[in-house]
Amino acid sequence: MHFTRKVTQDLTWVGADDRRLACFEGVYGVPDGVSYNSYLLQDEKTVLFDTVDKAVYQIFFENLSSALAGRKLDYLVISHMEPDHAYTIEALLTRYPEVTIVCNSKIQAMLGQFFDLDFTGKLQLVKEGDVFSSGKHSFTFVMAPMVHWPEVMMTYDLTDKLLFSADAFGTFGSLNGRLFADEGDFFGENLDEARRYYTNIVGKYGAQVQAVLKKAAKLELDYVCPLHGPVWRSHFGDFLEKYLLWSSYTPEEKSVCLAYASVYGHTENAANILAGKLVERGVKVRMFDTSVTPASYIVANAFRCSHLVFASTTYNAGIFVTMENLIHDLVNHNLQNRAVVLMENGSWAPTSGKLMREALSSLKGVRFLNDTVTIKSALKEDQLAQLDAVADAIASELVPVQPAAAESSLSTAEPSGPLPVDDKAFRKMTYGVQVLTTCADGKDYGCIINTAVQVASGNPKKLSISVIRKNNTCDMLLKAGKFNISILTEDAPYSIFELFGLQSGREVDKFARYPGDDRLSNGIRYIPEYTNAVLACEVIETKDLGPSMLFIANVVESKVLSSGKSCSYDYYHAHIKPKKNPVPEQKEGYVCKVCGYFHEGSDLPDDFTCPLCKHGKEDFEYVAPAGKKKQKGYVCTICGYFEPCEGELPDDFTCPLCNHGKEDFEPAEQ
Ligand code: FEO
Repeated sequence: MHFTRKVTQDLTWVGADDRRLACFEGVYGVPDGVSYNSYLLQDEKTVLFDTVDKAVYQIFFENLSSALAGRKLDYLVISHMEPDHAYTIEALLTRYPEVTIVCNSKIQAMLGQFFDLDFTGKLQLVKEGDVFSSGKHSFTFVMAPMVHWPEVMMTYDLTDKLLFSADAFGTFGSLNGRLFADEGDFFGENLDEARRYYTNIVGKYGAQVQAVLKKAAKLELDYVCPLHGPVWRSHFGDFLEKYLLWSSYTPEEKSVCLAYASVYGHTENAANILAGKLVERGVKVRMFDTSVTPASYIVANAFRCSHLVFASTTYNAGIFVTMENLIHDLVNHNLQNRAVVLMENGSWAPTSGKLMREALSSLKGVRFLNDTVTIKSALKEDQLAQLDAVADAIASELVPVQPAAAESSLSTAEPSGPLPVDDKAFRKMTYGVQVLTTCADGKDYGCIINTAVQVASGNPKKLSISVIRKNNTCDMLLKAGKFNISILTEDAPYSIFELFGLQSGREVDKFARYPGDDRLSNGIRYIPEYTNAVLACEVIETKDLGPSMLFIANVVESKVLSSGKSCSYDYYHAHIKPKKNPVPEQKEGYVCKVCGYFHEGSDLPDDFTCPLCKHGKEDFEYVAPAGKKKQKGYVCTICGYFEPCEGELPDDFTCPLCNHGKEDFEPAEQ
């Protein structure tokens, strides 16, 4: 029975998953399988884009026959001759003998090499920039040599702004019914396998990938259809960013990939001790035993991390076999621009360090941080200082220096107790008010902040923000690693502050009032109205401040939207936040904090809603009758919530309405 899915109205995916393949290309384990993608266009002419591996030919032909729905197949566009996409061409020609093959001259040569067939009169040759039409759809061709073989070409559908990208932007792993990347958590669940696919399949050809990315940058892309893995129709920019890093051999993160080869555990022991020293210094370590983890996974992590540590015992007067395989793979994949630390072990003639150094020295931009650490059989106490020095050298490049405690030259006297900290003093500082937005797992998030500050000029400019940890947006921002800031203007209505400041995204769709789906190029929404400027930021550092999380970020895009005056925190309190309406004296009841409506009575039912503004019971506060003793407590200066309390609020108290902490409460009586 066929299984197909629509990509667009005219284009149908007719490929298949292969979950029984042990090793892709005979080398790379694919425990989650792999998909072979093929696409059929139904236009005035029918056009098939690539075929599939022989392993899935049967379901492929069922899919194709179903998608054709009785029509004949007019064209086959071949973008890549590797047999995982081209093996089935011969069988296709048997079933659809009238098909014309659209390809370039290098593909023509390989057709002759792979098949004993006469292609005379069956080929339509194209070259870069040629235009081919199937009726409503027109296509142009982009040559992509060495991404992944020399004959590779991509095809761009000018009508649907859709790129058939061949192996580029592919991913290991079966589709499992999920055709589009945005039908699941691609960046949470699939990115590791996408990285392993890229680095091992095309990692060697970074320059060629960069060249084709430059060509692709000129194309408007609504869809990207690779030969493996899901189709992209949203958030493609995020994936493209990864390709820009991988293909330029730029580390994705400041961290250490530590790989060791150990026969009896002594080299492993030294590697463990070094890992511990690194972690103690605040360095992130990804650690692998080369005898356990296949090289393709370690290669992918070597592309990911900025610093590499290789520790190998000596074996047959050379590098231990699994480490030798890894080093060989890294050299063959042309990894560049990494800091390297080497450790060797040998009971009588340690040579693995020298040999690893020789092999890795051929790589561009590789620098060695240390003299090789040599272990004779087992690490000794007096060598720990050497590992400390290695850990210090790595940490000095990866861990930001903490500023020394400020020293006062004015007084050396110790304060006798805690000095007063008046919260109101902080309100004298000039804060702007902004909407912070981010996007994670395909969902948009936003909240009000008043903490955005530019902290560095130059290129790129940097800013810092802090977000309350209990706020859902904070968790999502940690996940997404990027955000937008929409700077609100003085004419912003209270409803915006209410929406993004007092309501939870778990209960309301905060973006429903903005149907335009306005986003910056990072794919994150911004607030298009009552906003004078927007900035797109990428997080480069975070610091846990207890109740809040500090984010430092590079500004990667910004634009001015209006000439409106920025709303300060002070202006918001003075002119936008509703004043408490006078309530009838002498009466006991509840006043709505949003609109001031007064409900008389000693009780307020749980399902009560304000007849004026429709807010619920949680937005009402109790008003005591005249003569009744007022209740002591604390009021939240952010949202007005009153917490009855006779003594001190607990240090970890947070507002149940807006999640602000104890520091934003002040004593009050109600
Ligand atoms: Fe998926 Fe290079 O073949």
